[in-house]
Amino acid sequence: MKISKSAPSNIALIKYMGKVDGLGNKPANASVSYTLEHLRTHVEIERISSANGRDQWQPLQIEGAFPLALKPTGQEKFLNHFGRLKEKWGIKDTYLIKSANNFPSDCGLASSASSFAALTWGAAELFQKTAPQNWGDDLTELSRLSRQGSGSSCRSFFSPWALWRDQGAEPLKFSLRLHHAVIILEKDVKAVSSSEAHKRVLTSPRFQGRIKRAEEKLEVLLSAISQERWKEAHEVIWDEFWDMHELFHTSQSPFRYMTSECREILSWMEKKWKQEKHGPWITLDAGPNIHLLFHNEDLAFAQKYLTEFNRHNVITSWGSP
Ligand code: DP6
Repeated sequence: MKISKSAPSNIALIKYMGKVDGLGNKPANASVSYTLEHLRTHVEIERISSANGRDQWQPLQIEGAFPLALKPTGQEKFLNHFGRLKEKWGIKDTYLIKSANNFPSDCGLASSASSFAALTWGAAELFQKTAPQNWGDDLTELSRLSRQGSGSSCRSFFSPWALWRDQGAEPLKFSLRLHHAVIILEKDVKAVSSSEAHKRVLTSPRFQGRIKRAEEKLEVLLSAISQERWKEAHEVIWDEFWDMHELFHTSQSPFRYMTSECREILSWMEKKWKQEKHGPWITLDAGPNIHLLFHNEDLAFAQKYLTEFNRHNVITSWGSP
């Protein structure tokens, strides 16, 4: 018995950064994201017979996928989550899980979001076949379960807009559609994982007030998106990623994902927005790669904008930039 499943990544516009005490990735504040259908994790889950009864992970070989070398801690986190799902659904068999991303991993492209969503979703579909009573097609429930593996993955169950306040995410019914591009400035594995970042930010003096700031920005952003006040949304999104990165820079063991090249590009983008009074939404995740979101009707503008970055590797939702 074997299943293949894929799930998308997502980019947060109001970030999940900092957890409340206890297990299960409970966020300090609510977050909102846009789902990135073109950046996906593929999983294959297959029942195996194994002498030690332990589930195993291997990289999946598929065309167009990036080589995935999960470190032992990454494998453990992934397999522990699978173990939790088996326990929840009363599954005793042993499985081999293979996974691959169609984009570089661990560099601020939120690969844990798509990985854990694909694993949770795939496991649910597989176990539905073997023991039909075990799960419903309730995405809200799957989102809550996936959150326990990796918080940001709970938003990948809803597309294109998702809001995560507490236990799991919910869909948002905005009509606005976006084109996504990401300028890859770094594709190596990052030195500080986002799970570690969640811990360190709690030690920043700027964490005082962070929850209030994030909640206020969320309300402004939701209103700006629903009424398509593009520039206002841009200003909130811009402010939000700087807020998150300032937490990194000011934690007790400070760390930095932004490189000088990243900062130069961000300054150029800021100037361009001022000159033209228009531009893409700009955000960074826990990495130096720059995510751009263009209005659905701005594809020609997006293509022209990205000619500035011809020397960089750029991944877009519409194919070649
Ligand atoms: C910076 O979901 O990777 O991407 O719950 O510990 O697995 P864990 O963390 P993770 O955190 C992602 C944080 C972020 C912002 C976001 O996606 O909201």
